[in-house]
Amino acid sequence: MSETFQRKSVQRRSVQRTSVQRPPGFVFNPSSVSISGKKKSAPQPVLRCEQVPLPELAERFGTPLYVYSAGMIREQVRAFQKAFRGVEHSICYSVKANSNLSVLRLLGKLGCGFDVVSGGELERVLRADRRAAKRVVFSGVGKTTAEIEAALKAGILLFNLESASELDAVSRCAAKGQRTAKIAFRVNPDVPADTHPYISTGLHKHKFGVPLNEARELYARAAKAKYLQVAGVSVHIGSQITDFAPFAVAMERVAELVRQLRSDGHRIEYVDAGGGMGIDYRASGEEDGEKFVSEYAQAVTGPLRGLGVKLLLEPGRSIVGAAGVLLTRVLYRKTNGEKKFLVVDAGMNDLIRPSLYQAEHQIVPVRSGGLGCEIVDIVGPVCESGDFFAREREMAVVPEGELLAILDAGAYGMALASNYNTRPRPAEVLVDGKSVKLIRKREKVGDLVRLEL
Ligand code: LLP
Repeated sequence: MSETFQRKSVQRRSVQRTSVQRPPGFVFNPSSVSISGKKKSAPQPVLRCEQVPLPELAERFGTPLYVYSAGMIREQVRAFQKAFRGVEHSICYSVKANSNLSVLRLLGKLGCGFDVVSGGELERVLRADRRAAKRVVFSGVGKTTAEIEAALKAGILLFNLESASELDAVSRCAAKGQRTAKIAFRVNPDVPADTHPYISTGLHKHKFGVPLNEARELYARAAKAKYLQVAGVSVHIGSQITDFAPFAVAMERVAELVRQLRSDGHRIEYVDAGGGMGIDYRASGEEDGEKFVSEYAQAVTGPLRGLGVKLLLEPGRSIVGAAGVLLTRVLYRKTNGEKKFLVVDAGMNDLIRPSLYQAEHQIVPVRSGGLGCEIVDIVGPVCESGDFFAREREMAVVPEGELLAILDAGAYGMALASNYNTRPRPAEVLVDGKSVKLIRKREKVGDLVRLEL
């Protein structure tokens, strides 16, 4: 397990965390609401999303609730555009990170394209913005015939192929529909990245991509197919990567391949650098996010200098991760011997990252009080011991009924939510300045059983 991912320093997790600020999205501001409801008590800092106090949202929409900041999403897209301004590029936001239609619409309006990995994700993009099809790249190791046909019909920009068999499948579908498919192979550069093993993808032992030393043969085969047009080379080495050196190594290998392919006579117009730039889940809001993106940009673009390719980027987490929180209410406090638990109304079905990847999200009381601190496990109501958000976490003391915000939950939060324990999934809200928009209604049990016979 990687250090960067596990972040096990409980000591560093002090109550000062309650002062976490994530400008311009999540900030504590004095509020007229007092902790006890008594008049005359000092104004208590309350966490807001942009200009909206989170308790107001909890009141209005209930908990658990996903809350996203449109301003933070815009700011991240702008940081990418600025960092990559020196090269011709297109941001193809990775839909899997957060696929809510309103989020896709927002990103579409900012000029983003999209990286999809299923027919379902493609359909979401088309529903959000029909004209975005020509800015779509289709990745994934197991595209079905129906999905390939839908993508051909939509007229997407690029198929990222992952095997010889998939090459044949796309070639057959393209010939059948008499539509030309632009293709790239996703190469597996055999570069290790320091991240959780489940989301590392760039080694030969992983199922992803084709080996570099087989690529030229595959491109030669693709070039012979009447309805395929060789157009690019793709790579994606994993997710939540915060040391950028492996990106540079992977891109050097890709650049070398581009030169070889061009000397073989192929027209390589695009390099798709995939996604994977990590976020700092420990962040206090003081770090320079723009600088971080620009360091990533340097790692990716450096090796491509002089090649004159159009760069495609597939960021997911780095665009939406810090722009979302999961708002949850403390149902009960309980102790088992020495151990203290806060039982909250969100569960692993709503946000599985701590259970699945041992991810440590910061958790802050929405009303920052001065009640001292304690060491607690923050757990959900699901019937598994793996249903936790934090273990042995030093936290401000929070009474029953209070709200907590689980930070950095904008990526792979709702997207990975399930109905385990027949728990309806949370509602989602998008905040933009003062404006609040419900972008997904809370599910009801009726929604869950509707398809059952
Ligand atoms: N492109 C491809 C081909 C990918 O497989 C992925 C993510 C991305 C782009 C976007 O990567 P990002 O920029 O978001 O790192 N559920 C896990 C993450 C799984 C990532 C899968 N692939 C988590 O919660 O950490």
